[in-house]
This record gives sequence, structure tokens and C-alpha cells, in this order.
Amino acid sequence: MGEMYVPVNIESIQPEVFPDVALYIRSGDKYILYKSHGRNFTQQDATRLLGNNVEVLFVSPEDLEAITTYMETNAERVLQDDTLQAATKGKIIYQTSINFVGDLFEHPEKVSDFNRSKRLVENLLQYLSSDPACLNSLENVMSHNYYTFVHSLQVAALSVLLHREAYLLSHDEMIDVAIGTLLHDFGKIFVSQEILNKEGKLTPAEMEAYRKHPEDGYLYLKANTKISDISLGIVRYHHERNNGKGYPQGLKGPAIARSAQAAAICDVYCTLTIDRTCRKALSSSIAVGLMKQEMKEAFNEKLLDVLEGIVCADNPAQFL
Ligand SMILES: [Fe+2]
Repeated sequence: MGEMYVPVNIESIQPEVFPDVALYIRSGDKYILYKSHGRNFTQQDATRLLGNNVEVLFVSPEDLEAITTYMETNAERVLQDDTLQAATKGKIIYQTSINFVGDLFEHPEKVSDFNRSKRLVENLLQYLSSDPACLNSLENVMSHNYYTFVHSLQVAALSVLLHREAYLLSHDEMIDVAIGTLLHDFGKIFVSQEILNKEGKLTPAEMEAYRKHPEDGYLYLKANTKISDISLGIVRYHHERNNGKGYPQGLKGPAIARSAQAAAICDVYCTLTIDRTCRKALSSSIAVGLMKQEMKEAFNEKLLDVLEGIVCADNPAQFL
């Protein structure tokens, strides 16, 4: 985990509008410089890399702002292109997103279920791409705030794993969980960029605007898509807390659907462990420790134990 390198699919690079960023190739858990600042990425580069089966390049945290702006604009272009089929749009979203899933684990190579969870996310996104309303919603998030999109994908992947370890779910329920978690922060498209990207503390007025996102997302998705009540519940209640100190309704314990409780845990865990450059990321065990002690009352204890088993590499047994 740690610093966030942003994956860029080579086929999605348009040399004429691509920003001047350094590009890296990932080798194991290291990043090797492919091109430095000041040299253009050309069609020949693309051909050569693809010929060597390299499909994805990475941009370092140093260039995070430039690449994020590019990704948001790129998503907007894709979103507005009516000639592209939903399936093609789904593929583009999938390709730009799948590489983030690995960042959830400090040692993905140690998690024997890792490839399976990757495949699961792949299938889910493929499923999503067959539902234009869902896909559109995801594209809206991606073009409004790229970080929110990446975060949503990570929370969804982890939540699917958490559900699989903690409960017996049918395939359809799993799809509902994944869709709800992927879209949990959908309401943030109604929150301004200034608030979403602000580094310091929010003013009370800004906080009030920010805290509307669960309800606004819920209302919009309920009116404009056919997503299920389980999915809608995740969107609406992912900021509720076990001790009743969450929002919007201050629900307590079992009054909060378990899928929303799981989303809350994954949401906070991903926020603590993924670096946004302004704040250093915590290791898995420190993040889980913090959630178990200082935020103890806020979460379902049993689910926290399951999360610990999934993300802390030193904890055996979960994947045997
Ligand atoms: Fe949220």
C-alpha cells in the first residue's frame, strides 16, 4: 500500500492531450522509470510496450494532480461519446480501475484468494456494463472526482471479500452488495470540488453540504436507476455508526443493514490506509488496531475481526 501510483491503460493514452508526467512500469512491488518529464509518449512507445505485453503504465504521486485531472477529463470524454457502446465504456472503466485493487493488500502475493477477488470485481464490472444506468452513474462519479471513483472501487472489492468471509450470500446478493458499495459515494457528485478536495478542516456549512451525500445519492439513484433496495441501503446508510453517532439518521446497531455496516468498515479502512499525499497512509495492522480501539463503538465487532483476518498478512487461517 502506501503511496498511490495511478495506473494508466496504454490504449487509453491520447498522446496529443496527455500531460507531461513521468511514466513507470511496475515490476513486482517496484516501479521502474520508463519515461521522464519532458519527453513525449509516442505511438511507437505504445506499440513497443503492447508488443511486450505491458498494458498499463504508472504515474507517481509526484504527478498525482496532473494525472487525476487528465483521468477526470478522459472519463468525461468517454461519458459524452454517444458512439461508444455501453460494453466498451464498461471495458474502459474496468481497465482503468482494476489495477487499484491490488493496493488494498500490503502483500497481495500472500493472499491466495487475491486472483479470485480480482476476477470477482472484473465480473461485477462486466455485469455493470450491461446496465447502462449503473454504468452512467459510475462514469459520473469518475468524471466528477477521480479519487472518489478509485476509493469506491477499493471499498467495493474489500466489501465483497468481507461478505464472502462473514456471510453466506447468493450470487445475486453479492452483486447487490458490490453495486451498492461501488456507488456508495455517488451523492458526492452533488458536492463541490472545493469541498471534496479541501485539505484542511471543513467549516460547519461545508460539513453540512458534505454530509448530504448519502441521502442525495440515495434519492437520485432511487429515482433514476433500478438498483435494488439492498444497494440503495448501502448508499443511504454507509455513514451510520453502530453507536448511533453516524448520519443521516443516527441509526444504531442492528437497525443498520449488515451490508451498510460492512460498507462503513471498508470505507473507513480504505480511507486510513490509502495515501492521498496530504496525509500519510497507515499500515493495515495500525489501521485495524485504530478501528478496534479508538473507534471501537462505531463498528460491528465481529465484522472488524473478519476484516483483520483478510487484510493483516500475519493473521493466518483465513485463506487456507
Ligand atoms: Fe461517503
